[in-house]
Amino acid sequence: MIVLNHLAGLAADPSPLRREVVVDGVPLVVRGLCAEDATALTAFLAGLSCDSRRFWHGDADDTEEAAGWIEAIGRYDKLRLVAHEPGREDRLAGVVDLSFSLPEGFEITRYAAYGIELDEERTARFGPCVANEWQGRGLAAALLPPAWDAIRLFGRERVVLFGGVHAGNHRARRFYARHGFVETGEVDGTVDMMRDLP
Ligand SMILES: CC(C)(COP(=O)(O)OP(=O)(O)OC[C@H]1O[C@@H](n2cnc3c(N)ncnc32)[C@H](O)[C@@H]1OP(=O)(O)O)[C@@H](O)C(=O)NCCC(=O)NCCS
Repeated sequence: MIVLNHLAGLAADPSPLRREVVVDGVPLVVRGLCAEDATALTAFLAGLSCDSRRFWHGDADDTEEAAGWIEAIGRYDKLRLVAHEPGREDRLAGVVDLSFSLPEGFEITRYAAYGIELDEERTARFGPCVANEWQGRGLAAALLPPAWDAIRLFGRERVVLFGGVHAGNHRARRFYARHGFVETGEVDGTVDMMRDLP
């Protein structure tokens, strides 16, 4: 209920999520996903390379996936951030997928098997994805402070990877490790990592 109230409030007034960052010399706006982003989000998903798709949303239909994200704005448990150059809402550079629930059978169950009890009231799930032309330029790193600020708005301080990370996604694993995540365990080729916010 508290999560729903927060999400509905941010859907009505997303200004607390808005940040400005500079990545590789380029100014970018980071803000909450809004209903007008459907076409840009579809294009972002469609533009991902095979590897990026495999590590992110797999074979999901891009239009349906984007429509699902839009439909979920201000409802359920998800909050999505997007980044783009000012005035270029049509061309998303990166997205952050946040969730404030821990459904049985997923992270909470895997972590329990590792001997870690996740507290749903304190934990957020987090997954970033950067457009291929932006990868390796520091965008994911620049998205972390806005993501942590959004998570703190919900009073959460523990962050777990949403869906874990593919064991073969060495780039992402190195990225998370460099940014304070520790590996908690591995199930069926999925590595779980978490960190606590300061
Ligand atoms: C994993 C992922 C999110 C990392 O995003 P990113 O924006 O490329 O990350 P960063 O640029 O901050 O850091 C990545 C690398 O770029 C380097 N880098 C950072 N800033 C840089 C800059 N200004 N110029 C050149 N390189 C830079 C970093 O040192 C790092 O190097 P390394 O991979 O050798 O360690 C991104 O590769 C991605 O979206 N992949 C596809 C989807 C995915 O796997 N998502 C994660 C699912 S769990």
